[in-house]
Amino acid sequence: MELVIFTAIEGLQAQLEQCGELAILAPSRLDQVARLLEGARPPEALYLDDTRPAPLPELWRIITLARRVGARVLVNFNGSARGALNDAQAAGLPTLSEREPAAIVAWLAEHLRLRRDAPGRLTVVAVGAAKGGIGKTFATCVLAEGMRRRGLRVLVWDSDISNPGLVPAFRIPGSAPSYLHLIQRGPAHWNADGIRPFIFQPEHTRGTATGWGAIDFLIGSHTVARAENDVRLPDWQGFYQGVVSLEGYDLVLIDTPPDYLRRPYATHVLQSGGTVVLPAPPGARERLGVGHLLDHLRDHAPERIEQCALLFMEPERGVTATVREVAALFTRRYPQVASLGTLPRAPRLASLADEHDGYISMLDIGPHSPFAGAVHQVVDTLCSRLGLAPALPMPRSSLWARLNARLRGEGAVASHSPAIA
Ligand SMILES: Nc1ncnc2c1ncn2[C@@H]1O[C@H](COP(=O)(O)OP(=O)(O)OP(=O)(O)O)[C@@H](O)[C@H]1O
Ligand SMILES: [Mg+2]
Repeated sequence: MELVIFTAIEGLQAQLEQCGELAILAPSRLDQVARLLEGARPPEALYLDDTRPAPLPELWRIITLARRVGARVLVNFNGSARGALNDAQAAGLPTLSEREPAAIVAWLAEHLRLRRDAPGRLTVVAVGAAKGGIGKTFATCVLAEGMRRRGLRVLVWDSDISNPGLVPAFRIPGSAPSYLHLIQRGPAHWNADGIRPFIFQPEHTRGTATGWGAIDFLIGSHTVARAENDVRLPDWQGFYQGVVSLEGYDLVLIDTPPDYLRRPYATHVLQSGGTVVLPAPPGARERLGVGHLLDHLRDHAPERIEQCALLFMEPERGVTATVREVAALFTRRYPQVASLGTLPRAPRLASLADEHDGYISMLDIGPHSPFAGAVHQVVDTLCSRLGLAPALPMPRSSLWARLNARLRGEGAVASHSPAIA
């Protein structure tokens, strides 16, 4: 289908081009739009918004012309022409008032009946929070490890590049490639072939003979962290399109940054059809942060808010609020947002993993611990929500193994002397 778009919204054309079935023409002036419409073979559809300077009567003239030549017209007025939305509706045009490219693409796809979920588009889960230190990276690690134990192939994308917690957590070496270099190369490289060489595959998270899946990584490395300033939102969104077109994975898991207004990556994932997991420790400040992000997501993707899920985290010792109380609060305020369950605190397992010489998962240190049991349960719930059918069953521990683990204090792994790096 040939679609003419008249817009200055950055990233919109790039995202539409990912839809496949569209041939897109994006003139920058209205007289060029008119010429296309008056040509021998007028386009089948015209999208226009009010982000380019154009007087309203001129926009109407183009709309009238487009309808006369049989083109479908879709109108998005969110700025200067917003007052004309009612008139457009009254004229029978599909209308929208939106600035977010992903939301506009979703709306256009629906009206033009485009296939968006082309085979090969990956399932995406963003782990999001509106506050630092809430447990995003922690949740990303254990979800990835839990998924892998079900035979799923996981691509973990560290998009919190100003504070790449996944690098120390997974012991990613400084020699790992950084996708920031690829972003700098420009949109022509943001496709599966371009991205693949930038995927890091550590030895310690390879698939196993017992059927475990692998965890691979897209890392924005420290060494180029200053280039972080250059990852503008449209670039991130364009890169995202390339990532979800990769083959060989069951799932992309994204660790997102907490500055959700400047870097609304979780919002983009939700608007693009993905799922957002929000780690939720019950402390007052933490739940305020979770609430802020949920409000933001509800404002920007109201029809997709049920694709958000809370992951409750038991608080540190001394915190008086309980998960049970806070879960009830969230259910009242956000009834569409389900819970994936609760992760118990496991400071000893976390510390043993941190201090271990080389990478080891908490799930390997305490395979029969209550913590591991909870992770497996959460992963199972998440898989069902995502419609993933893991090859391996949920790991279960016998009562005997659990008792034994408790007697051994969960971790029989030798720790070693702490070091700075
Ligand atoms: N259930 C748990 N048991 C033990 N430790 C935990 C648990 N949950 C979180 N932590 C610890 O809390 C700390 C903060 O978590 P994390 O680094 O994942 O937060 P974050 O949201 O990614 O922060 P940032 O915004 O700085 O990236 C980590 O040291 C982590 O080990
Ligand atoms: Mg983090």
